[in-house]
Amino acid sequence: MAIRKKILCIGAGYVGGPSMAMIAHKCPDYRVTVVDINPERIDAWNSEQLPVFEPGLDTIVKKTRGKNLFFRKDIENQIRDNDIIFVSVNTPTKSYGAGAHMAADLQYVEKTARQILKNAQSSKIVIEKSTLPVKTALAMEKILSSRKGKIRFDVLSNPEFMAEGTAVKDLENPDRVLIGSRETPGGLKARDHLIKIYTRWVPLNRIITSSIWSSELSKLVANAFLAQRVSSINSISALCEKTDADIDEVARAVGMDKRIGDRFLKAGIGFGGSCFKKDILNLVYLCNHYGLRDVSAYWENVLRINEYQRERFVNHILHSMFGTLSEKKILILGFAFKADTGDTRESPAFYITQKLVAEQADVVISDPRALKNAAADLSGIKGNVKFVDDPYRAAADCHAVLILTDWDLYRRLDYRKIYRSMIKPAFLFDGRNILDHQQCFSIGFNVYPIGKRALTHF
Ligand code: NAD
Ligand code: UGA
Repeated sequence: MAIRKKILCIGAGYVGGPSMAMIAHKCPDYRVTVVDINPERIDAWNSEQLPVFEPGLDTIVKKTRGKNLFFRKDIENQIRDNDIIFVSVNTPTKSYGAGAHMAADLQYVEKTARQILKNAQSSKIVIEKSTLPVKTALAMEKILSSRKGKIRFDVLSNPEFMAEGTAVKDLENPDRVLIGSRETPGGLKARDHLIKIYTRWVPLNRIITSSIWSSELSKLVANAFLAQRVSSINSISALCEKTDADIDEVARAVGMDKRIGDRFLKAGIGFGGSCFKKDILNLVYLCNHYGLRDVSAYWENVLRINEYQRERFVNHILHSMFGTLSEKKILILGFAFKADTGDTRESPAFYITQKLVAEQADVVISDPRALKNAAADLSGIKGNVKFVDDPYRAAADCHAVLILTDWDLYRRLDYRKIYRSMIKPAFLFDGRNILDHQQCFSIGFNVYPIGKRALTHF
């Protein structure tokens, strides 16, 4: 098919790879190129083993790669050769200097803008896909307009709302696509270009436009609201445990109110993932910057409850297992921050493992997709940690099993077989409330769910 448009994405990560694969899949007449400073990542995108596990992603990459989807290392050539450039680089929390541990580290975004400026030989539309603090586009515009000449750059904000584990579904059928632009003729024209790409598969009424600043801020706020729901339900799970109420029953009753809705009300060990914490910290930093102390304190508490929930979980294990974990073998089922991903960034399992090791427990970790990342995350840990693929083999001679990721696989394990191979009394801590607790109790386990009464044989 004749190529009508050329698109570049800088940053081949969890967002850049899948989102560009979707554009290539839906727009066969567009040539989509993805570049990255990390050559191994590009090699992985060009290999059989993609660097990101996402259900359905292999299929669309296989269909498009080498036809109209390309993963390349020659960033400078690609900037020259493409007129629509998505920026999807990482924006982690700053670890140094002013705003350390709170503000977003914008060095990668700024370097990208400078690289675009240095190599561009024609006008470009530059699209922020990374999650950025409100007003970042202003800095981008200032850098990009610093070279006098005929070349113009129009900056758009098009934040990505996909979640890991459901990226392909979310990209194919998004709740909304948000495009923020300047209200200038150039800004509106650039916006129309981007709308044209998305209308290939997204209904027009789900493509919404706004100012750049509203768009940048909406992304932070959407993540903050989602995380706030998780913290809200987790805070109530603590109260349920004190009062014999059941958190799943409360969540169902509350969530059936259409004004509240039933999603994101699953109590657990707290949210993980690369974005919720960093984006709320970023929001807190912004509020402080503008002198809005009460607002920043409000959002900071969403993070505080998240820490409280996982601390509570570990304390519960320690106290239930007679106050000592020393030399007790504990099996962690699931190290990914959620099901259907191999991603372990900010996974609650990392914190929990550290605490268990500090109590001198022997930890065995099993996960269907995240063992490689888990081993890398824990490479510096001083203590006894093993990684075992097969959950049944991993369970042998354990004192306790902890469910830390909501993998469907863990719902279907033979818990009778697991129980038989364990040291007695056998403990089961369901950090995701995904098992049939009554059934596990009748097998013989002492069962400790979240936000529900424990079922023990003592
Ligand atoms: P990631 O770390 O997986 O990928 C970012 C990539 O950018 C890395 O491969 C890195 O090498 C590359 N990079 C950095 N600087 C570069 C440069 N100058 N030139 C070329 N490549 C460069 O990060 P991610 O998870 O894809 O997230 C990217 C952005 O999208 C972040 O702002 C994040 O908040 C946001 N976001 C992430 C998700 C998600 O589910 N992970 C969802 C929505 C939005
Ligand atoms: C989240 C948002 O859902 C996406 O819209 C957003 O684009 C993305 O962040 C981002 O900006 O990176 P993600 O972190 O991939 O997506 O996954 P979620 O499904 O939101 O789960 C986040 C965490 O909350 C996980 O640890 C999950 O287990 C936990 N969670 C979620 C709960 O504990 N309970 C729930 O009810 C829902």
